[in-house]
Amino acid sequence: MTKRVAEVSLDAISANVRYLKSLNSDSSFLAVVKAGGYGLGVTQAATAAIAGGADWLGTFDLAEAFKIRAALPEPPILAWGLSESDDFALALSQKITLALSDLRHLELLEKTLLATSGSHASVHLKMDSGLSRNGFDATSRATAFQEAARMERAGILKVQGIFTHLSNTSVDENEAQVQVFQQIVEEAKAAGLKPEFLHVAASETILMPLSAKFNMVRSGIAIYGYSPITASSSHAFGLKPALKLTAELLGTREVKAGAGVSYGFRFRAKEDTRLGLVGCGYADGLPRIRRPEKLWVSIVGKRYPVVGTVAMDQFVVELGTDSPAIGSEVIIYGDPERGEPSLEDWAIEADTINYELLTRLGSRVERKYV
Ligand SMILES: Cc1ncc(COP(=O)(O)O)c(C=O)c1O
Repeated sequence: MTKRVAEVSLDAISANVRYLKSLNSDSSFLAVVKAGGYGLGVTQAATAAIAGGADWLGTFDLAEAFKIRAALPEPPILAWGLSESDDFALALSQKITLALSDLRHLELLEKTLLATSGSHASVHLKMDSGLSRNGFDATSRATAFQEAARMERAGILKVQGIFTHLSNTSVDENEAQVQVFQQIVEEAKAAGLKPEFLHVAASETILMPLSAKFNMVRSGIAIYGYSPITASSSHAFGLKPALKLTAELLGTREVKAGAGVSYGFRFRAKEDTRLGLVGCGYADGLPRIRRPEKLWVSIVGKRYPVVGTVAMDQFVVELGTDSPAIGSEVIIYGDPERGEPSLEDWAIEADTINYELLTRLGSRVERKYV
């Protein structure tokens, strides 16, 4: 069987959480484990984050919150990607904290609460402070606050938290959103709400200055040990990458100078050389880079350049005069501090971000937890 392995260090996730939490020790720490724990395994990432001291877990989909709850009965879980077809009653019975972002959510939740006498929900309200995705905006927030306050007075609701998400466009744009958020919080308080948690910062603003970090922070990419700014390394931020992606050297061959390599012959051998075939491709989540120029892999501790277009199941490296054994482990990316290529090298070459490559690791890649 062709080996493709995502070796995930759960200790690295725990250590990153511990470190990130220490940067804002007065705040509650929410570990973002949506999208299958950024591709690394939702329950495994959640468990490692809790072991590292995370106070909360966060997902987009309710379905992922349920998965975590089945493994971890205790920690608070916030789910903020609600759909009107979601089962709010099940969410309440599973102690999932709903993050409402729309007046329809408030209506549906009220219906659910009134359907069962004695039921009560503690929720967070997601506010749009400028990102223009979801969240109550300037036209809906006054009604949202009034309705939520009315439900609080009726004894069926508690607005435990109010939060927003930043665009990370620039320091000035982030600060402008913080100003808007401060105003929103004042309006919520004027409507009678008394949220225990206010939260704005995610990885980038946990690691970098922001005028107000409030009393809860939410971190995703950084808990997996990756920089929120793809051009910066993990280590520049004191983080430890949790993933080592390896595949198998499936074969080698000698070619003459001028031989074309892979689809489109975008690389031709400059001299007589040996090529190695690596069993991992874009079906496994690698980007379909057409002309890898700076990418390399590590085989038995030595660097070899990636050549030619990355294909669905395979890509080619140039071995020169070396002949590593067929079946050797090829490190595609791992921890640069151990002399391994970095995920960011691949992301930069593909003109994308590390987040995208992490979360699209394919299903053929075996996840191995160490
Ligand atoms: C609402 C919210 N909070 C936090 C995060 C985590 O962001 P990051 O991975 O940059 O820490 C995300 C990610 O998309 C998000 O949507």
